[in-house]
Amino acid sequence: MERLQKIMAQAGIASRRKCEELILGGKVQVNGETVTALGTKADPDQDEITVSGKPIKNEKKVYVMLNKPKGVITSASDPEGRKIVSDYLKGVRERVYPIGRLDYDTEGLLLLTNDGEFANLLSHPKYHVPKTYLATVKGVPHGEGLDKLRQGIMLEDGMTSPAEVEYKDVDPDNKQAVISITIHEGRNRQVRRMFEAINHPVIRLKRISYGDLLLQNLKRGIYRHLTPDEINRLVQMAMSAKNSKPEGKRPPRRRT
Ligand code: URA
Repeated sequence: MERLQKIMAQAGIASRRKCEELILGGKVQVNGETVTALGTKADPDQDEITVSGKPIKNEKKVYVMLNKPKGVITSASDPEGRKIVSDYLKGVRERVYPIGRLDYDTEGLLLLTNDGEFANLLSHPKYHVPKTYLATVKGVPHGEGLDKLRQGIMLEDGMTSPAEVEYKDVDPDNKQAVISITIHEGRNRQVRRMFEAINHPVIRLKRISYGDLLLQNLKRGIYRHLTPDEINRLVQMAMSAKNSKPEGKRPPRRRT
């Protein structure tokens, strides 16, 4: 027997917190009875659990990484008809969701799963799983500029936590440079905004690792399943990163 919100999250309905809201909102039934108490337990193999009238499926858990091409949107549908990541996952029968997002123009390693708990663990800001990007930027940033990124830089939504930053390649005419940057947060357009803040806008952005999982030579537009060892290592890393990484300093909240 497990708590209802855990069963729901594992079935990929939503995060545990959202599932609790669904229970409190009277949307969940167990064997035909509406349940609103958060401590309620059920047996996913025996009990019929429905959310808004639809039975939840105890699907096999799948974990995939996709080398997302640029020009593809990280969401389940797009009203403008642009390409979406599931267009590249035709061989995956289960309905999987991206863990975090990559911008339309960002390419590289994107994780997808139907395991809501796993997704929640990895994308929760307090777990700080490191992500490494190769950023091709306009011009060649000075060491001082890169030091600002290493120390943490003020963006409009607060200070970033320290990043690891390294030159990878510099164009002989100094028109552009390739920089590797590892960040421990996942704010919206964070890497692009960090380079904009030192006046070197990003021309191309590719995520090459997530935790210790590497994109390596996975071809663009191709996915593969993670191995059990890779899944375990990501969980371990998220749990151990929880207490070890420095927080970015946010500006003091204004009282209203
Ligand atoms: N940072 C960005 O700016 N864009 C991404 O897609 C990911 C990280």
